[in-house]
Parts: sequence; C-alpha cells; structure tokens
Amino acid sequence: MKERRRASTDASSSSADLKSSGKNNAKRPPKSKRGGIVRKVCPGSTALLLGICVVALGVAALYWIGALSPAMEEPVRPRAVTPLPVPRVSDLKQFKGEYRERMFWGTYRPQNYLGIRSRTPQSLLAGLMWLGVKDGRYAIRHTCEESDKLARYGWLRHDGSTYGRQELLDQGVTLTTSFLKSWEDGSGYGGDWAVRIKVEAENATESSQEDGQPKSRSTSIFFYIAEEAGRSLSFWPKGKNVADAPFVGGSASEIGGWQFHLHHKEDVAVSYAGLRQIHMHNLTQLVLNTLMNQGRLTGRLQLPDSSDRHSNIAVLQISGSLPFEVDMVFLSGVDKKGADVPKRLKNLTGVELERRLIQKEQEFENRFQDTFKLNEKVGGEKEVEVGRAALSNMVGGIGYFHGQSRIAIPAEFKGQEPELSSPDYWLYWPAELFTAVPSRSFFPRGFLWDEGFHQLLISRWDRNISLDIIAHWLDLMNVDGWIPREQILGAEARSKVPEEFVIQHTSNANPPALMLVIRRLALSLELDLKQGQAREEDMEYFKTMYPRLQAWFNWFNTTQSGKQPGTYYWHGRDSHTSRELNPKTLTSGLDDYPRASHPTDDERHVDLWCWMAHAAETMSLIARLTGEPHESYEATANGLTNLTRLNEMHYDLESGHYYDYGLHTEEVKLRWKELKDPRIKTGIPQRILRRVVLKKPKLGWVPHFGYVSFFPFALRIIPADSTIMGHHLALLHSHDLLWTEFGLRSLATTSSVFMKHNTEHDAPYWRGPVWMNMNYLILSALYKYSQEEGHYKKTAALLYPQLRDNLIRNVVKQYHESGYLWENYDLKSKGKGQGSHPFSGWTSLILLIMGEMY
Ligand SMILES: *[C@@H]1O[C@H](CO)[C@@H](O)[C@H](O)[C@H]1NC(C)=O
Ligand SMILES: *[C@@H]1O[C@H](CO)[C@@H](O)[C@H](O)[C@H]1NC(C)=O
Ligand SMILES: *[C@@H]1O[C@H](CO)[C@@H](O)[C@H](O)[C@H]1NC(C)=O
Ligand SMILES: *[C@@H]1O[C@H](CO)[C@@H](O)[C@H](O)[C@H]1NC(C)=O
Ligand SMILES: *[C@@H]1O[C@H](CO)[C@@H](O)[C@H](O)[C@H]1NC(C)=O
Ligand SMILES: *[C@@H]1O[C@H](CO)[C@@H](O)[C@H](O)[C@H]1NC(C)=O
Repeated sequence: MKERRRASTDASSSSADLKSSGKNNAKRPPKSKRGGIVRKVCPGSTALLLGICVVALGVAALYWIGALSPAMEEPVRPRAVTPLPVPRVSDLKQFKGEYRERMFWGTYRPQNYLGIRSRTPQSLLAGLMWLGVKDGRYAIRHTCEESDKLARYGWLRHDGSTYGRQELLDQGVTLTTSFLKSWEDGSGYGGDWAVRIKVEAENATESSQEDGQPKSRSTSIFFYIAEEAGRSLSFWPKGKNVADAPFVGGSASEIGGWQFHLHHKEDVAVSYAGLRQIHMHNLTQLVLNTLMNQGRLTGRLQLPDSSDRHSNIAVLQISGSLPFEVDMVFLSGVDKKGADVPKRLKNLTGVELERRLIQKEQEFENRFQDTFKLNEKVGGEKEVEVGRAALSNMVGGIGYFHGQSRIAIPAEFKGQEPELSSPDYWLYWPAELFTAVPSRSFFPRGFLWDEGFHQLLISRWDRNISLDIIAHWLDLMNVDGWIPREQILGAEARSKVPEEFVIQHTSNANPPALMLVIRRLALSLELDLKQGQAREEDMEYFKTMYPRLQAWFNWFNTTQSGKQPGTYYWHGRDSHTSRELNPKTLTSGLDDYPRASHPTDDERHVDLWCWMAHAAETMSLIARLTGEPHESYEATANGLTNLTRLNEMHYDLESGHYYDYGLHTEEVKLRWKELKDPRIKTGIPQRILRRVVLKKPKLGWVPHFGYVSFFPFALRIIPADSTIMGHHLALLHSHDLLWTEFGLRSLATTSSVFMKHNTEHDAPYWRGPVWMNMNYLILSALYKYSQEEGHYKKTAALLYPQLRDNLIRNVVKQYHESGYLWENYDLKSKGKGQGSHPFSGWTSLILLIMGEMY
C-alpha cells in the first residue's frame, strides 16, 4: 500500500514514472453511488477546475432535487464524504477527563526531528532546528529527511505519554533531546513540560580530530514556539540573566496564560526573532530566509533580536562551543492564582530536572523489563538495546493530525473532462487522527493496514493509547463503511506527498489488519468476562465500536467480492496497463506482489479470503461478547475456514501451493520500444519499456509462490494436524522458496518475476526482500502450531526458534551497523536494510518477536 514514492524527495527519479502512477490511480473503475450533493466541492482556482466544479454542481443539483424533500434545508453531503451516523468511539468517556489531560501535550509531530504539540486542531507548536550543511550550503535541519543523511536518530526511550529521550547524530555532532511532562501545583490544563537539549561532539570522550579540524567547534540550535491559530505572542526584553525571565508568552484556550523559559549554565549566545506566518508547513524556509537576510546585512548568521508586528512565532537561537546544554520550559496556567512560577521553573531546570530525568529513565527501564521480559528471552544487551529503540520509536512516532482528506469524485459526478485533468476532489469532513506512523522521514502519516501491526506492539505497552488510536481510525469511516487508507491531513502532512498521491479513492480497499489487534483485545475481554472481572468501560468500548465494525466488514464483504459466491479479490487493478510487467495491487498492501497477469473479475485472491475469514471470526466473537446476533458472522467464518471450500478455490493439488486464481500467462515481458511523441513533430524517438504478452492468458492458478501463498498458514486456517500443515512446514523450510538466514523472503526464487522490475523505474519491492510484518504473522502462527497438539507439533517447534533467531540476528546486526530499523531487508547484500529509514513501524515488531509475544 505504501507505494514507493522516491519522487517526492528524490529529484533524480523520473517524472514519467510519477505521471503514470497518477494515471493508474485515476483509472480505478468507478463505483456506483447514490446521493445528493454538496456543500464544498470547489477547491483550487484554475479555470478548468472551476468548469469541472460547475458541471459537478449541475449534476449534483439534479440528484439533489430528486433526492430531497423540500423541507430539508441543509444540503446533503455526497455519500462518499458523509460520516457513518453512529456515535464516535473517540467520544467515549474513557478518552476524556484524566486521560485526555494526561495525553494533551506530546511529541506528536513525528515528521520533525523534535516536534511538540497538543492534541487540538489548532495548537501551540514547538520544535527544534539546527544548522547543518547540505551540498556545500547551509541548511536548516527541521523535518526528518533521508537526504539530510543523519548518521543516526531516533528515540532511545519513550513511554508514549510523559517522557522521551532521543539522540540525533549529524556531521560529527550529537544532539540529545529529553522531553518531560510535569503536573505541579498551579499548572494549567495539560501541565507543564521541559525539553533538555545537549549538544556535544560525537565521540566527545575521544581526543581524536575530525577532518583535521580541532574538536572545539561551535554550532547553533534553534527552538521555536508557534501559535497555529495565529494569535500574537508577547516577548520579554532580553535580560542579562535569561534564566530568571520568561522569553515569550501568551494565552491560549484551555491552557490559559503560558510562558516559555530558557535556562542554560554554559556561556552561550542567545538571539531571537519574532515572526508572523500562519503557514506552518514552511517554517524551515522562514527561519532560513530570516537568517540569510541577517547574514547579508551583518555578515553573521544570527537572528535579529527583534520581532515583527503581531508575531505568532518566536524563534530562539542558541550558539555556543561544544559541548553545551540548555533547558527549555513551558509553563501553563501562569495567570492562575498560586501559579508559583519560580518554584515550578526551578523544578524543571538544572539539577532538579536532571534528577527527574534519571528517575524517568529508571521507571522506563522497569516497565520495559516487566512488559517484555527480554532478559530471559534474548542473548544480551545488544538485543535489548534494539528492543528499547523499537518500542521508543514506535510510541515516540505517534502523531496527532487534523485536516480533511481529499476524495476522488466518482465518475458519475464528473463531466467529460479529459483524462489526467487537474485534481478534482471532494473534501472529507474535518477530522482528527491520532496514529502511529510507518516512517518519520518517508511516511510520516497514518496508513490503515500498517496501523493494525503497530497496535499489536502498542497495545502491549499502553492499552489505553491503543484503544484511543483504534477509535480514531474507526471514526474516519464513511456511511458506506469505507476508511481512506492513507491519511494526509493538514498542510504539514500534505507538503510531504506529491499531489498525484493525495487523492483517495472510495473504491479502494486495504487489508483490515486492525482486526488483528481488535481480536487480541476481544480475546482478553472474553477472558475477563469469564473471570467476572470485565471492566464496564471495556464493554462500552466494544459496544460503541460494534456498528462501525459491522459497516466495515460489510463494505469488504460486498465491494470486494468475487464472481464465484463467497470468494474475494482486491478490486481496482489496472487492466489496461502497457507499462507494468504485472499490474500492481496497491490495495492489498503488497503493491507489486505478482497476481494474475490480466486483471478481470474472474480473479480470486487468497490473501483477501484469509483476511475475510479472520475478520468474520473476530466479528462473531465480538458479537457474542456484546450480546449481538452472531449467526451470520459465524456462518461466514465457517464457510471461509472450511478447508474443502478454501482448497477448491485456492489450492493447487499438483504443487501443493495456495495460489490466486485468474486470467494469467507467465509469458509476459518488458521490451524496449522506440516511441515518438506525436505532439513534438521533430522529436527524437524515446526508448521506453513496454509490456509484451507472448502467449494468450488462460483462466487458472497464478503460480507465484510467496507471502500470499502463506496466508492460510499465517492466519491459521490450516488445521494443525492436516497433511497440508505438514506439507507447509516443508515448504516453509525450503531454501528455494522463502527461507533465508535473514528471515522469510516475500517471493520464491522460483517465481518468474522474482526480483524483477515492474517498470523501468519500479524496482522490486514485494518481490524478494524480507518484510517484518509478514514474518511476524508467519512466525506467530508457527509458534502457535508448535504449542497445539497434532502430528506436526514437533516439526513446528523445531523450525520456530530457527526463524526467530534469523530475524533477530539480522535486524539487530543491521541496527548496530546502520543506526536504523529499515523498511525491508535485502538478500543480495546479506540482509542489509533498504528502503525508507528509520522505519520504526511494523519493523518494530522485532520486539514482540524477542519477547515471544504473539
Ligand atoms: C487506562 O485507563 C484506565 C481508566 O480508563 C485507568 O484505570 C488505567 O490506569 C489506565 N492505564 C494506564 C496505563 O494509563
Ligand atoms: C565516532 O566513533 C565511531 C565508532 O568508533 C566512528 O564510526 C565515527 O566515525 C566517529 N565519529 C567521528 C565524528 O569521529
Ligand atoms: C517538584 O517535583 C517533585 C517531583 O519530582 C514534586 O514532588 C514537588 O512537589 C515539586 N515541587 C513543586 C514546587 O511543585
Ligand atoms: C509558505 O506557504 C504559503 C502557502 O503555501 C506561501 O504563500 C508562502 O509564500 C510560503 N512562504 C515561504 C517563506 O516559503
Ligand atoms: C458475506 O457475503 C456473503 C456472500 O454475499 C453472504 O452470503 C454472507 O452472508 C455475508 N456475510 C455477512 C456476515 O454479512
Ligand atoms: C465444507 O464445505 C464442503 C463443500 O462445500 C461441504 O460439503 C462440507 O459440509 C463443509 N464442511 C463443514 C464442516 O461445514
């Protein structure tokens, strides 16, 4: 699902590639929808767009007149952007009160190296920047960018709510950022917080020299506070003793009066600027411009110590020779009686802060040990260190986003506009999303199927946070039961995504992986109920969630069904492509994993079958727990877990492999062709790769063996003592197929597209490399099979530790060598991490693997 979008940050990848992907998206077959329109459909301003909007509104008006009684005044929204009309799960009492206040502030801007905000649509934002060098020029480090080439960064400790410690290594300098929240007598809503930033030379203890330069170098860091709502800030004159005076302050709804203080003990130079700008997505440029202007005027890269009228952004610059350390403190409710600012300030700076940070480290460590018990489970400190980083980056990567998704307008609402016209879309309702992210640099936003895996880990660390995140996702469901699979909310998020990919299609699915964690939670509720100790609020949670899950299940069960009753396929593959070796299936989450060469509605996808079986079983369980009718889910689950039926639809007796079914030929190749662009008369012919089909496709099995073939095993539909089970253990261990010393590869070496490019620029993605989410699912099944009575218990028990060791060994090695967890692991280069990094989304499942928590 996460299409590799090198183009968004890497200028070297071709624009041709981008265009064609955009086209794929645009070609999704329309889904028929009823309903009227429309409140807000004319974003953008070009004449063409306006024309389209007028047409759309015209069509809409027709629907509208037909669909509504004259008594109704509010225009109806199109169904696609109408919320499911049931109570929101995130409105439950358990997410208000104490919980909400505790979670108010956080490092909820994971796309920044250090970014703090509150969980409100318009927040005070805080963040760290520093001066680096990129391509021989000064550059501001601010948003996480792979092109910054930091040697390493990430949270080493983070508890998800009150404390975190991060290290960033950049060009020989180490920045350590510690974040602490605190509630004291006199604090306003959400409490106070402090950030300590330590700046030192990398390897400070060694007396070596770097690049022939002496180690005593100086550097500048910046810290800002910005009012998203645009309210202006008050600045205090720079006193001699900065420690005693606030630097900037203001007043904001909920938290009341606030002050921001800087405290330092070393001799550092402090300057500042007050700026006015309501577009927060280009703060980096704003600060760089301010600095460059000063540079031209004074010859020094130093902020001007002045502020614009009505400044809503305060930037502090702190320069000093390494090492130095500063404490920054945010105090809320300073206008309340008994606020006692000096006392609170003392408690959050200097030695007091030091003491509290040490205490928080200890608390983290104890809780980490209690939760994952790694000391009993893995070899040593090298592994445990990776475990801590995996957890900390996962929970430290949780973000709060607010905004409106853009939704493609279904075809029947559109005029006859030419293909590839400028984007035209509807806006989803304004919504909040609290979610973890796959990668702070490359995918710093919510992804539906990733989130199911993220919550497997987070729910073990802090169940409340997990419940909250799941609630936010389910609340994004529209009246048809659809959830946009990629959440690009707000300008800051959008600034990281090329325009072509922003628009979401209501016909597109994405695996219901949230059901994995929902089932886990339901099983624990079932146990609590049996022991008579179920909490009222857990029951409430499941009851409130239930109608949403029903709508969600039904959406899959109806829109993704196959021609044969009770079968499924991922709808929306491109059947007209002449560029792709095998048309991608982004909706499945496995992007370029090979499917039928010729997409038709005869297709059957075995992974979706298994997801539906798992979802139906989960629904049946929840229905029973909450006293709802469960019969139809049970019947559907029985049908989908019936091995005879599954085998009829997906089992190739000859090879003993589970396969997709469809119109397919193995004889498809990419060939170079010379093409002339008809629009350019004198143009030189271009050489491009085109797909050629050398043999007529036939209906039948799609003989690619890989992760998809292992779904009946991974989701444990194969009974423990069936002969198919025994056969699958042999398949699992076959070195020609998926087994490697670094984990299970995504596609067998025997597949005709193993490690093949899909287009000239589309490198193999799910066609060989090792991915942690699928390894976790398969390993987890292996573990459970090794515990279940049956003929194959012993074999499973033999393979399980081998696969587990392989995964742990490689991820731990790669982390220590490269400083990161990676998107996936390559085989040609002996298990090296590749793709986006840090990728602390599902790769962090390595911690559950270490702790044997399945
Ligand atoms: C989770 O929330 C419940 C109340 O809703 C509370 O009793 C419990 O202590 C919370 N757990 C954590 C880890 O915060
Ligand atoms: C610091 O030490 C590590 C390991 O010894 C080395 O790889 C790295 O290059 C050193 N960094 C600097 C800036 O000297
Ligand atoms: C300072 O912090 C400690 C907790 O570490 C707390 O017990 C004490 O009450 C705080 N002092 C003030 C003035 O709030
Ligand atoms: C910031 O973004 C806004 C809106 O996209 C734009 O108008 C403005 O020029 C940008 N400012 C800078 C400094 O890039
Ligand atoms: C799912 O779809 C199948 C086929 O249309 C239907 O028979 C079954 O009842 C549906 N299941 C549920 C729970 O709605
Ligand atoms: C499984 O499906 C087959 C074929 O549809 C059917 O004959 C059989 O009764 C089913 N088994 C169970 C246990 O429902």
